Amino acid sequence: MTSTTTSRLEIRPLSPALGAEIRGVDLAQAIDDETFAEILRAWHDHGLILLRGQSFSEDQQVEFGRRFGEVAPWSRFAAKEKGRHPYIMLVTNLKENGEFVGSLPEGEIEFHSDGIYIEQPSAGTMLHAVAIPSRGGQTAFASMYKAYETLPADMKAKLEGLKARHAFTYNSQKQNENDEKKTAADVASYDHPVFRTHPATGRRALYVNRLMTERIVGLPDDESRAILDKLFTHIETPAFIYEHEWQVGDVLLWDNRCLVHARRDFPAQELRLMRRLTIAGEKPA
Ligand SMILES: [Fe+2]
Repeated sequence: MTSTTTSRLEIRPLSPALGAEIRGVDLAQAIDDETFAEILRAWHDHGLILLRGQSFSEDQQVEFGRRFGEVAPWSRFAAKEKGRHPYIMLVTNLKENGEFVGSLPEGEIEFHSDGIYIEQPSAGTMLHAVAIPSRGGQTAFASMYKAYETLPADMKAKLEGLKARHAFTYNSQKQNENDEKKTAADVASYDHPVFRTHPATGRRALYVNRLMTERIVGLPDDESRAILDKLFTHIETPAFIYEHEWQVGDVLLWDNRCLVHARRDFPAQELRLMRRLTIAGEKPA
């Protein structure tokens, strides 16, 4: 792991598996095209970029997100969240008048890829840390490039060309009462290839996860279950993982096409507040 210093930026890998910190960018200021090209390259090279110590408005966050692609409105929750920015979802346990004001307020969330249960899942997700608890609440990331590249040859051959079915679910025990209640009939669900090719890097990645993947399509139930359990354990190999310890002011942008992420538990009585936006993606292939 060596740092790269360009004309403007310092790019420092965060772990052997994935991720890079970029220094020398102030997101409250305009970013010229040449600087942005370096940021974009770092995102593609490392799957995740971190910019620390940022203080910027919600509109500036959306403006930065739009450099990477179309920013998606968070329509699933928007109707219940009147008066909030249409593109910035609050991931927080903040309460007003005894009610959670944001989404996914509490608890651990297992490894997943945002939006995998729809036809065109999010390409990227950006979180800006406004308040963090004194302990816990880390976000862990696993490289699905590494997971794919290290799969045994017989497993690769077995799964080549197959699809997996994914469904909208969050295992958090204490769901926000304002979030949609899921019923069997209206859970969003979609089948995607078990292996996908990243449209920008051309690299192949494993594309299943513990939280949202239900089955391998076309295999008997018990075989599908056994294979998925093996894959989930494989994905959580420590050498594939970077675990982020949040600081207030952090901006993280990760690529859902080649990483999965998980949230560690944290004390429910301590405030955690993240400003989240997602960048629209393409149909996985
Ligand atoms: Fe997520």
